[in-house]
Amino acid sequence: MKTKVLFLLAIAVVLSVSCESPEPEAGSLKEAYSGSFKMGCAISPFMVSGRNPQAVDLLLSQFNALSPDNCMKPESLHPGPEVWNFGPADAYVQFGKEHGMFVLGHTLCWHNQTPSFFWERPDGTPKSRAELVETLRSYIETVVTHFAGKVDAWDVVNEIVAEDGGFRDLGWVKAFGGDGYEVAKLAFQFANEYAPEGTEFYYNEFNVWRPSKLEGVVNLVRRLRADGLKVDGVGIQAHWGLNYPKTEYIESAIEQLADLGVKVMITELDVDVLPISKEGQVIGKSLQDPQYQLEEFEEFLDPYKDGLPEEVEDQLAARYEELFKIFYNHRDQIDRVTFWGLHDGASWKNGSPIPGRTNYPLLFKRDLTPHKALEAVLSVPVKGE
Ligand code: GLA
Repeated sequence: MKTKVLFLLAIAVVLSVSCESPEPEAGSLKEAYSGSFKMGCAISPFMVSGRNPQAVDLLLSQFNALSPDNCMKPESLHPGPEVWNFGPADAYVQFGKEHGMFVLGHTLCWHNQTPSFFWERPDGTPKSRAELVETLRSYIETVVTHFAGKVDAWDVVNEIVAEDGGFRDLGWVKAFGGDGYEVAKLAFQFANEYAPEGTEFYYNEFNVWRPSKLEGVVNLVRRLRADGLKVDGVGIQAHWGLNYPKTEYIESAIEQLADLGVKVMITELDVDVLPISKEGQVIGKSLQDPQYQLEEFEEFLDPYKDGLPEEVEDQLAARYEELFKIFYNHRDQIDRVTFWGLHDGASWKNGSPIPGRTNYPLLFKRDLTPHKALEAVLSVPVKGE
C-alpha cells in the first residue's frame, strides 16, 4: 500500500513539473513593446485546438496579434470547385477574438497554395478573362463576407512583385496575361467592395529590402492608391538570416514605405541559422533536389541536429538584438512585428529550402523555453535608442 502511495506521489510530482507553463524568465514581448508596436505570431490549427496548453499559455503571455499559418489560404478555404472548408479558419478567428488579439486574414490573392481550378475549367482548358475576374470576385466576396467583422485586416495580395520590380508571371498573373497590375487592382477592388468598413487591407511581400523590389512595391502601392483603392499597409515578410539583409536595406524599406503613408509591418519574421539559407522561396527549389538529402551533404547542411552550439546561440541573440534595434528605432513607423511560428519545432524553416533539417529560427526552443535571443530582444527598449 505504502509503495503504491509513494508511486502515485512520484507520478504526481513528475506530472506537475512537466505541466507547468514554462514562464519566460525574461518577461513578455507584448509588454516590452507595448508602446512601440503589436507583437504577433503565426499559429496553426493545432495551437487553436489547445492540445498543447503550455504552448497556448506561452503564446498568450507573449503576443497580442495573430496570423493564420495556412488555414486561410485558398487551398484550405476552397479546396475544390464545390467545396468550402471554413471550420479551421472559424476556430482561429474565434480563438483570436476570445483572447482579445488582433486577427489577420492571410491571404486572398496568391499564386501559391491556390488550386488550379481557380484558373482552369474542369476540362483543364484555361479560363477566359471574364471567367477569371468572376472567380476572383466571387472568391473574395465569399471569404471576406464570411469573416466580416471578425478579422481586423486582410493580406489582400501576396508576393506578386518580382525581384526586378516588375510582376511575377505566376498564378493569377499568368492566367490573366498582361503585366500583373490588373490582378492586384481587382483583388484590392473586390476586398474594398465586400469587406465591412474598418477592415484594413495590406500588401505582403518577401525580399522587400532589395532596392529593385522595393521600388516595385512602392510603385504598386502608389498606383493602387491613385486608382482610388484603400491600401492600409505593407507587410515586409522578414524570412531572414544571421547575416542578411544589411541594416541599411531594411531601414530604407521601412522608411520608403512609411513615406507612402501606409502602416509598415514586419510580418513573417524568422532568422535562419543553417547554411545556404538565403530566402527559401528564391533559391529553395534547387535545394529540394533529393541529392541534398544524401549522407555526404547531411553533416554540412544540417549541422545542429543534436542542439545549437553556444556560439551560434550567441549569434542568434546578437542578430535578433540588431533587428529589434532597427524596429525599435523605427517604432513610429512600424505597426506590428509578427514571428512566423511560436517555437523552433513549429517553423517551416525545418523543411525549407531543404526538407528534414533541424533549424532554430525563433525566440523559443522546441521545449518552449526561451533562446538567449528572447532576453536580447527584451533588452532593446530597456536600453533605449
Ligand atoms: C510565405 C507566405 C506564408 C508562408 C511562408 C512560409 O512567405 O506568405 O504564408 O507560407 O511563405 O511558410
